[in-house]
Amino acid sequence: MKTQRIVEILKSDAVDTDVVVKGWVRTKRGNKNVAFIALNDGSCVGNIQVVVDLAKISEEQLKPVTTGACLRVDGRLVASPGAGQGVEVQAEKIEVYGTADPESYPLQKKGHSLEFLREIAYLRPRTNTFGAVLRIRHAMAYAIHEYFNKHGFYYFHTPIITASDCEGAGAMFQVTTLDMNNLPRTGEGAVDYAQDFFGKACNLTVSGQLEGELGALSLGRIYTFGPTFRAENSNTPRHASEFWMIEPEAAFFELEDNMELAEDFLKYLIRYALDNCMEDLEFMNKMWDKGLLERLHFVLEHDFKRLDYTEGIEILKASGRKFEFPCDWGCDLQSEHERYLVEEHFKRPVILINYPKDIKAFYMKQNDDGKTVRAMDVLFPGIGEIIGGSEREADYGKLHARVAELGMNEKELWWYLDTRRWGSAPHSGFGLGFDRLLLFVTGMTNIRDVQPFPRTPQHADF
Ligand code: 4AD
Ligand code: MG
Repeated sequence: MKTQRIVEILKSDAVDTDVVVKGWVRTKRGNKNVAFIALNDGSCVGNIQVVVDLAKISEEQLKPVTTGACLRVDGRLVASPGAGQGVEVQAEKIEVYGTADPESYPLQKKGHSLEFLREIAYLRPRTNTFGAVLRIRHAMAYAIHEYFNKHGFYYFHTPIITASDCEGAGAMFQVTTLDMNNLPRTGEGAVDYAQDFFGKACNLTVSGQLEGELGALSLGRIYTFGPTFRAENSNTPRHASEFWMIEPEAAFFELEDNMELAEDFLKYLIRYALDNCMEDLEFMNKMWDKGLLERLHFVLEHDFKRLDYTEGIEILKASGRKFEFPCDWGCDLQSEHERYLVEEHFKRPVILINYPKDIKAFYMKQNDDGKTVRAMDVLFPGIGEIIGGSEREADYGKLHARVAELGMNEKELWWYLDTRRWGSAPHSGFGLGFDRLLLFVTGMTNIRDVQPFPRTPQHADF
């Protein structure tokens, strides 16, 4: 007989039929006549209730059925007389696939703190909370591909191992086959990357953008969606050393088109979650964040505020607020500033544009004022920056001069500069932090709680 998933069984109206259910025990309770087992298979928040008549299946046989054990239950689906569930399974036969010794199994019946669950991240997908978060994560990944497919963007695979530093921030994990521990850093016998696997220094990518631009300048519209890596020692609830990024890049898009794309894309994803993940969202709303559903609807129903960086600074200065890091024109906004603009001043998402060129990456299109670039950050309530992007500098002379001015390694960037020599075109793009999107959509407040296996400084545990 075909095994059915619990999500389907719970919605089934095929009562009085034989079923097979398989899953992990959440709880077992009962009396001397009957036992009730709550079984979950990861397909939904809900459990199926398995009712065991102890005259048919002995208490002795049920001994290994403890929280965490994995079972196969053959039985009959019946309408449930109890409150809270439409159907239940009357067990005819129970097979224990795997026991879970109650003395050592870390997940107990009771709820656990998020901090504790982080220490056992390899087991937490078995909890309702992480089941919900990871199903929403899946749905968002699916919706991202769906959105771009509908809008004529091609999924473009950029390399994970690269020799370039897109953001120019130097926060890169090196990739090497040399035994660095036994090599002096300088002097005789020092690291010689020519001897290394690729014949030069390579690193894990911080962004697929530079290669993505080549895609846009040939296929027109592309997007990347893959893991990116940053070796910055940022211990915040919004930074991870390994995170996923979605980077659309489009030829003939100017900053205005880029902003429209970003807003439409984010709203599409939020709407998708509301249309397809309601049970999980309601669970998150009830358990962790009572304002979640309201906030998701709010963002859908309001236009994002478009704001010049210069105006943003004036608002911050006029706010009378004592910020931890006071802010003047030219400063990089801290999350306290971003959140003030979004949560207190405008009370809706903000797209901040035209930043000073000195705090932004080399590839951004320069404005005629000589001071600012056509950058675009999307700031979200509770998150701060969720998207970073820009129109790109398409002029070879200007780009080349900026690379030289910043002392960047032209030899490594020759292929990128070449795109501006032959058939250059106006183009724009942005990067959406997938895990930050998940923070917003699930209501979780720590990036470690929306990734299955988080990597942060000092933590690569599972
Ligand atoms: O602003 P960032 O650094 O921009 C880029 O990498 C561009 N090359 C993107 C582009 O234009 N194609 O990063 C983009 C987004 C941020 O807005 C943030 O959401 C996320 O990536 N992000 C991180 N998420 C988690 N942990 C980190 N350490 C992150 N750093 C950036
Ligand atoms: Mg940024």
